[in-house]
Amino acid sequence: MSTPVHARPEARDTLLYLNGVSVSFDGFKALNSLSFYVVVGEMRAIIGPNGAGKTTMMDVVTGKTRPDSGDVVFNGGTDLTELDEARIANLGIGRKFQKPTVFDGHTVYANLELALAGGRGVFASLFFRSTPAQRARIDAVLETIALAGARDRLAGSLSHGQRQWLEIGMLLAQDPQLLLVDEPVAGMTDSETEQTAVLLKEINKSHTVVVVEHDMTFVRSLDCPVTVLHEGRVLAEGTLADVQRNKQVVEVYLGR
Ligand SMILES: Nc1ncnc2c1ncn2[C@@H]1O[C@H](COP(=O)(O)OP(=O)(O)O)[C@@H](O)[C@H]1O
Ligand SMILES: [Mg+2]
Repeated sequence: MSTPVHARPEARDTLLYLNGVSVSFDGFKALNSLSFYVVVGEMRAIIGPNGAGKTTMMDVVTGKTRPDSGDVVFNGGTDLTELDEARIANLGIGRKFQKPTVFDGHTVYANLELALAGGRGVFASLFFRSTPAQRARIDAVLETIALAGARDRLAGSLSHGQRQWLEIGMLLAQDPQLLLVDEPVAGMTDSETEQTAVLLKEINKSHTVVVVEHDMTFVRSLDCPVTVLHEGRVLAEGTLADVQRNKQVVEVYLGR
């Protein structure tokens, strides 16, 4: 469901809309009047050198970091700068961090069940009983993340790549409208990386996805519009081939 990057729309026509967003850390501008948006159904890859502000952008969207200025609007009208992390997650923005949040001593299936119970607190979730509809949802997620055959295995026994997929599955179980994924293929084998692209494309059939990633082979497999961040703002947008041809982008990457 890749959509071309169009001229800047109104906030109300977007799922996620950032306009003029700035964030400073001790005077250093991690985001410098960043403007960026995605529409419903889109998959977008975000690339850019280390320190470009990619993770900070996700922090701003999820409420972890408050912008000094600018608009951050979800679903055409909700001002995210007013809300805390829990409220933003409840609105339907799921984020996959690099640090794993999988419970190693539980099975793959139980991890997904716990994710469904999410928000009830650890104690309440121990007593969570899934409904038939929820069990069907978990089965569907297991298929999507290619772990149906591993449902009864302990999460701690999975490969690195499988653990990353389980984490993506735990987000999917909660059926977020927008999925933010930061460097999902770091540390994966080539074959796991390839499978992750397939998995995200499958997820994108029913969810809007924003992926930050360095791995260009992976970004190419995603086959979606690319935004290049540099020094806290958008340097270029277009297809991967477009941005790789862009002189400024080439300079930024070669100049390092
Ligand atoms: N909490 C923080 N305190 C101070 N500086 C930070 C903080 N978070 C990020 N930065 C700085 O902001 C810049 C952008 O960081 P980041 O968003 O993590 O970049 P990227 O994810 O593109 O590599 C970097 O120079 C980083 O050192
Ligand atoms: Mg980062």
